[in-house]
Amino acid sequence: MMAIPLPPAAALGLVALALAALIGWVRRHPAPFPAWLVPMLESRLRRRFMRYDQLVASLALRPGMHVLEIGPGGGGLTAQIARDPCGVSVTCLDVQPAMLARTRGAVPPAVAMVCGDAARLPFADGTVDRVVMVTVLGEVPDRAAALRECARVLGDGGWLVVVEAMPDPDYLPAPQVRAEAAAAGLVQTGHEGPWYRYTLRLARDGGATAAPPTLPASEAPCDT
Ligand SMILES: C[S@@+](CC[C@H](N)C(=O)[O-])C[C@H]1O[C@@H](n2cnc3c(N)ncnc32)[C@H](O)[C@@H]1O
Repeated sequence: MMAIPLPPAAALGLVALALAALIGWVRRHPAPFPAWLVPMLESRLRRRFMRYDQLVASLALRPGMHVLEIGPGGGGLTAQIARDPCGVSVTCLDVQPAMLARTRGAVPPAVAMVCGDAARLPFADGTVDRVVMVTVLGEVPDRAAALRECARVLGDGGWLVVVEAMPDPDYLPAPQVRAEAAAAGLVQTGHEGPWYRYTLRLARDGGATAAPPTLPASEAPCDT
């Protein structure tokens, strides 16, 4: 068979088209990220852009807080939260048992593991201070229910922190997350980062102030 040589621009165009088709398909069929690809999530390259230390610092953790991480993946962020000197209690919830097994291997034994769906959180109303979702929301088939559940479990002054980053095929733009969160009764109280890698902070509409607590230095026990 005779091979027909493709000019480089046409080859590039074909690759771009194939990628766009793949991304389109993934967005129409949301599915959990495969556990066997966890090394990609925890790769050094990704860690350079996904700064867990900065994210944990921005959570303004205080002693006694309950942090729920939905979709912890390889557990890199969970481990960093659990190591925070504040001594918060941490729960991980993931829909895939295989993913939770990966998380378990990376985090301290005190971290609680729950297998479940973000759209049906097995926690009582108002019992969580921080819900964290890093590149997770786009994978959840019923995002509206998941956002309503986050609003329900958040206590007064609680935050939902959503991180979205390209080139995740499930990436959701900030205006879309903001609009869907608003429909679930959550309002934006913070937004950091450029459009392709951003962190949104949301709080229950009409709930207690969600601004970072301004404590006198002597009462800021976690700044070690
Ligand atoms: C792309 S991974 C992100 C992992 C981690 N947050 C990170 O950024 O490295 C998405 C995670 O969300 C979980 N997930 C997907 N759909 C979910 C759902 N409906 N409920 C709970 N977890 C879900 C997946 O199993 C996976 O652990």
